[in-house]
Amino acid sequence: MKITMIGTGYVGLVSGACFADFGHDVVCVDKDTAKISAIEAGRMPIYEPGLDQLVGSNAAAGRLTFTTDLAEGVKGADAIFIAVGTPSRRGDGHADLSYVYAAAKEIVEALDGPAVIVTKSTVPVGTGDEVERIARELRPDLDIQIVSNPEFLREGAAIGDFKRPDRVVVGTTGSERAIAVMSQIYRPLNLNQAPLMFTGRRTAELIKYAANAFLATKITFINEMADLCEAVGAEVQDVSRGIGLDNRIGSKFLHAGPGYGGSCFPKDTLALVKTGQDYDTPIRIVETVVQVNDLRKRAMGRKIVKALGGDARGKTVALLGLTFKPNTDDMRDAPSLAIVQALEDAGARVVAYDPEGMHIAAPMVPGVTMVKSAYEAAAGADALVLVTEWDAFRALDLPRLAASMNAPTLVDLRNIYPVAEAQAAGFTLSRVGSAA
Ligand code: UGA
Repeated sequence: MKITMIGTGYVGLVSGACFADFGHDVVCVDKDTAKISAIEAGRMPIYEPGLDQLVGSNAAAGRLTFTTDLAEGVKGADAIFIAVGTPSRRGDGHADLSYVYAAAKEIVEALDGPAVIVTKSTVPVGTGDEVERIARELRPDLDIQIVSNPEFLREGAAIGDFKRPDRVVVGTTGSERAIAVMSQIYRPLNLNQAPLMFTGRRTAELIKYAANAFLATKITFINEMADLCEAVGAEVQDVSRGIGLDNRIGSKFLHAGPGYGGSCFPKDTLALVKTGQDYDTPIRIVETVVQVNDLRKRAMGRKIVKALGGDARGKTVALLGLTFKPNTDDMRDAPSLAIVQALEDAGARVVAYDPEGMHIAAPMVPGVTMVKSAYEAAAGADALVLVTEWDAFRALDLPRLAASMNAPTLVDLRNIYPVAEAQAAGFTLSRVGSAA
């Protein structure tokens, strides 16, 4: 199959490289000349484990090429995927679809024959209908099928998620050609027994938002349970295990922490809320999740001030991890941003170390001193705060860290350090949802 991928962001680049690895002939298109040149030279625009090798090997095999010329890239394609950004629109929280529609228009104008256009970007219900309208209006001469194929990969585990998905959702308006093309594209996944699920196009669009909102709700539920655990003297990790072992609930996405962040959950929950309001069917549970999660991030700052004895003025707080989760350099809506703000407002000086995110974080938090290791961060600090659970932070020399600090206070916002070990190292420990 010849596939064109429009957009070389997280979803576009990973999907393009994985499709090429399946054996398809893939052209990735991006307007950003510098980005395309960098990728061709082996420099990835994002940090994602394994991506540089995957891009390198498939490019070397001639299955993966890059261009800034959309019209050229679209020629002769069996399917053209739109994987451009859909950020929150400034001011109202709706998804900004201008990039999607602009891409659709350009694709349609460049087509030299019948085509299947697939939206992989996360787009609100009804976007496929609008793309179809654009296609009909501009090229009434051509048979153009518009398909929705939302992506469920996670940053940091993107390649594995793409190649071994729990399911692939494909939404069509029933066109046999579209169904045949999509079946052919995903045929290599048969080996991994990933169910390919065909549904209506609007339904597919909604499934993506429903999945992200449900996961965000699960996290927010356990975060509120964590607060209750702290109040009543219970352990949230045991509560997670105790409910997660029930197959109907499942153990995943039940880790309490500083609140969800990233490029997807905050944006998609908000967009779903807006869609619900537009259709007069408010999704109240998700409205609450959005509010609770926003408040939680700043509340983590207050938790740290409390661990400092209630007064942060003139004190130094060392943050371990800044990115919204490990194995990414993504800082979008990272809890660390609200935490830094709260600490600075409380008069603290903030020092931080992150294995991959500091170059992106630095301009976002100009008052923070970036250092080169966890040990350098801890030296002379009054509190050490584990914000992001990078593997590199799991086997730190706790006695060495504690000994180097002004006051050995550890705030573990991801509950990764065993209580006994931290206490034996001399730390006063504060966790999430724990009596410790
Ligand atoms: C999320 C979804 O998991 C993917 O399925 C989806 O494709 C993607 O959004 C998207 O829409 O593009 P991602 O944002 O990469 O993926 O990251 P997650 O691993 O889902 O984590 C999101 C946030 O939730 C992080 O801040 C993480 O720390 C937090 N989280 C996750 C928790 O606090 N507790 C958990 O148990 C799990």
